[in-house]
Amino acid sequence: MKIADLGQIDDDILIFGGCYSNLQATHALFDWAQARGIPPARRIHTGDVVAYCGQPNETVAALRAGCHHAIAGNCEQQLAAGMPDCGCGFDTGSACDILSVGWFGYVSRVLDPVHRDWMTDLPDWIVFTHHNRRYGVVHGSAQHVSEFLWSVDHDDALDRQFDHMATHVGAIDTIIASHSGIAFQRELSGDRCWVNAGVIGMPPHNGEQATQFATLRQGQFAFHSLGYDAQRAADAMRQVGLTQGYDRALISGYWPSEDVLPAALRVVDNG
Ligand SMILES: [Fe+2]
Repeated sequence: MKIADLGQIDDDILIFGGCYSNLQATHALFDWAQARGIPPARRIHTGDVVAYCGQPNETVAALRAGCHHAIAGNCEQQLAAGMPDCGCGFDTGSACDILSVGWFGYVSRVLDPVHRDWMTDLPDWIVFTHHNRRYGVVHGSAQHVSEFLWSVDHDDALDRQFDHMATHVGAIDTIIASHSGIAFQRELSGDRCWVNAGVIGMPPHNGEQATQFATLRQGQFAFHSLGYDAQRAADAMRQVGLTQGYDRALISGYWPSEDVLPAALRVVDNG
């Protein structure tokens, strides 16, 4: 378990997950942050710099240049360990299971060994203090890098993450994650707060092309929509043969893998 403690940061912080090899979204986000005076030293990536999209090496290079703090998502961990899949433990035969063979195989084949080494050294968690609250940054959950936690999950599923984290780093007031890919904020008992900061590399299954990220300013989270050149990102996928469905998702705004979602969040099945 590697933990990076960033100390006290009271100025505005950019928090985002899931670049997902989407170079166009990554550039657009850093342009947004630059225009608002948030420097790389106050940008935190919550993991999965590479995944579904077509430019993994360029995206890792962009992240390393534009963001000084990143944790390892399941993709970084699996690639660093030389594993054959993304480590999500999808049900055999599910859409995510079938589709991950394509995109993970591509990333694994083309990833620059220098970037793979960088992934090996990433921390699992980041902790920092901001305006008298202590924050913990994880990828999926504190207990497991690939745990999917959703806005509809019971409080208990979120609460136990705070208890687990406390055994390693002391009390945490707010946990920030991103792995499940749809942003939300949840207030819990004991003044605890759970935040999914969203992902910038894939839209949140809402029929829009814009993706999601978060900022933390004077103790308050704000969620933002990221507009970027989605057509160019989809074209980059098609140029390397990543045509299994996530290329169309960038354009349509709907995932090809709805079976990963809890029933209450399925928008296609639910009409
Ligand atoms: Fe992930």
